This record gives sequence, C-alpha cells and structure tokens, in this order.
Amino acid sequence: GMASGIPDLAFKEAGAIVIENPETVLTDADVVLKVRRPMISGEIENELARFTQGQVLVCLMDAMTEQGFVSAMAEAGVTGFALELVPRISRAQSMDVLSSQSNLTGYRAVIEALYEYRRLFPLMMTAAGTMLPANVLVLGAGVAGLQAIATVKRLGADVTGYDIRLAAGEEIRSLGAKFISDEIVQDSVTDGGYAKEQSKENQKSQLEFLKEYIIKADAVISTAAIPGRPAPTLIEKKTIQLMKPGSVIVDVAAPLGGNCECTKLGEMIILNDVKIFGPSNLPSEMAYDASTVYSKNIFSLMELLIKDKKIEMNLQDEIIDAMLAVSYTHLTLPTNREV
Ligand code: NAI
Repeated sequence: GMASGIPDLAFKEAGAIVIENPETVLTDADVVLKVRRPMISGEIENELARFTQGQVLVCLMDAMTEQGFVSAMAEAGVTGFALELVPRISRAQSMDVLSSQSNLTGYRAVIEALYEYRRLFPLMMTAAGTMLPANVLVLGAGVAGLQAIATVKRLGADVTGYDIRLAAGEEIRSLGAKFISDEIVQDSVTDGGYAKEQSKENQKSQLEFLKEYIIKADAVISTAAIPGRPAPTLIEKKTIQLMKPGSVIVDVAAPLGGNCECTKLGEMIILNDVKIFGPSNLPSEMAYDASTVYSKNIFSLMELLIKDKKIEMNLQDEIIDAMLAVSYTHLTLPTNREV
C-alpha cells in the first residue's frame, strides 16, 4: 500500500494479515477482491491459473467485452462479480465503483488542464491590469464531466457543458455552468439512463456544432462515453488546427479510444501548439482517495453478499443478479432472467 500512501502498518492496525507472497492468499481465500481483472494466458502471465475452483472473484473485469476472460473464469470454476455491472439505482450507490472513480477522474482532469495551461483560470483584477478568466468546455456531463464542471467553477474559470442527454443540461446549469445543446442531436438516452450511440448523420452534425465552441475554448475536458462501445469522436484533427495556441485538451475518454481524433493513450502530444493529453488512469494519481472510496464500495457490496459468514448469492436481489458474470455454483435462475 505504500505507493498509495497507506503503509502496511495501517492494514495491520485494521486487523489484516499482510503477507509477501500472493500465492498463499489465492490458495486460502474464499473471496478475492481486486481492482482490475487477473491476467489470463496470452497476456503477461496467467494469474487466473493460480485461482482455485469455487473461489469468488470481485473486480472490474469488463465482463461485457472481455469474453475470453469470462470463459477463462468459467473454465477455472471461479465465480465472478463484475464491479462495472453494479446497477445505477439508489440502493447500489454506495457500491458504485464507476461513480466513485469517475468523480476523482473529473476532478483530476481539471487539475491536469490547469497545470498544462500556461495562463490563469480565474479573473484577476489587479493594479497591474486585468486578466480575463479562461474559457473551459466540458464534453460529456456524466459523473466525471459534472465533477470537472464543479472543479472548474471553484477555480474561477468560465465553464460550458455539453451532453446529448437533455437531463444532463439541468445538472450542468445547476452547477452554474452554461449548457449548450445541438438542435439535431437531442436527448439520446436509453431506458437505463445511458447515452445512445449516434447515427453517422448525427455524428457529422455534432462535430460541426461543437467546432465553434472548441475553437473558442482555452481548455477542453472531454469525458463522453457509451457503455460497451468505443468513445464517440467529438474533436477532429482539423478543428485542433483552428484552436488557440496554448490551449489544452484533456481527453478522459482516452482508455475507450478517446473523444479526440489525435489522442494517444497515456501520452501528451502537441499539435499546432495545442496540448492533447490522454490520461490512462487518473484515479491512480490520487491513489489514497481512490482506494478509500473503492474500499468503501467493496465493503458495502460484501455486506450485501455475505450473510452469517457465508456468501449468499441471492439472485432475487437485483444488484447481485446484475453483477454476477459467471457462477460456479449451480443456481436456480429466476424465471424472468435472460440467460
Ligand atoms: P458515461 O461515463 O457512460 O458517459 C459520460 C457522459 O458522456 C454521459 O453523460 C453521456 O451522456 C455522455 N455522452 C455519450 N455520448 C456522447 C456524445 N456523443 N456527445 C456528448 N456526450 C455524450 O456516464 P456515467 O458518468 O457513467 O453516467 C451515466 C448515467 O448514469 C448518467 O445518466 C448518470 O446520471 C447516471 N448515474 C446514475 C447513478 C445513480 O445511482 N442513480 C450513479 C451514477 C450515474
């Protein structure tokens, strides 16, 4: 834990046994809690091979897209709960890892933008002259985008928010930011409350609409995402050519392919004196806080899963049902469950 600013002693004081060799934990544990999914054969090492039949694994596993991993878990006899599948319902909020980490991502993205931008964010009126506030554009106003907007406001810059869900408009305005909305691309929302992927025609009109706002911005924080799909392109290379020298793009969607055509994952590139940063994992830059909220999420989930010191897989509970990616134990499925 030292790299997260949490020394081993803190784990011991909390009642944990700290061991050096992960093999021992994997053999003895009934439940293994992780951040990312274990490696499988063909990747760096076959970490999953060290698991034993009947063990329960809880982590972020990209279960909807990583079919190879899901099959490997099934073959190994491991029961897998996917943290990214926690349903977005009130009762599950304390277990919602995507929200707790996205919140930190949104905050840190603004700090990165501020650091890379060579000028001030707030308005400053001094005896030596007036410095105007920066103009920040936030694309996508889910959890990360809204936190980015709130952070920009606190830092005193002018902020504009954009999303294709109209409900996000109210949230953007409630934070004191300006909301911009495209006439054609309006209210694209699924029954589950997520954004829908846009048609080719809408994508084109969206790029045209956004262009003038991107050109005016000093910093753009882009967070737009569609679950299980590549991130939508919202910033074209030709638009970057028209941006102000010294402006900054922080593309939070970089791990999903990026919202900007020029984004390179984990890198900062400079094009036409515009900095484009594609961070790969912003929460890990604030590992202490990220760990604090992540562990609280996991703890809440364990309270739901463990009854009388035993794992109880109650599929009538919609949270457990939604998160169960692979089950080793024989289960009687509720009749309404899609298999
Ligand atoms: P996300 O990370 O999947 O996407 C980020 C944002 O990008 C979303 O607001 C989405 O509408 C937007 N987006 C997608 N395509 C776009 C495009 N082409 N142009 C512009 N914007 C685009 O979103 P996140 O943060 O996971 O939130 C998704 C939904 O879940 C939201 O409605 C949010 O309010 C809701 N939510 C509900 C919670 C609950 O407990 N009730 C907890 C957390 C989120």
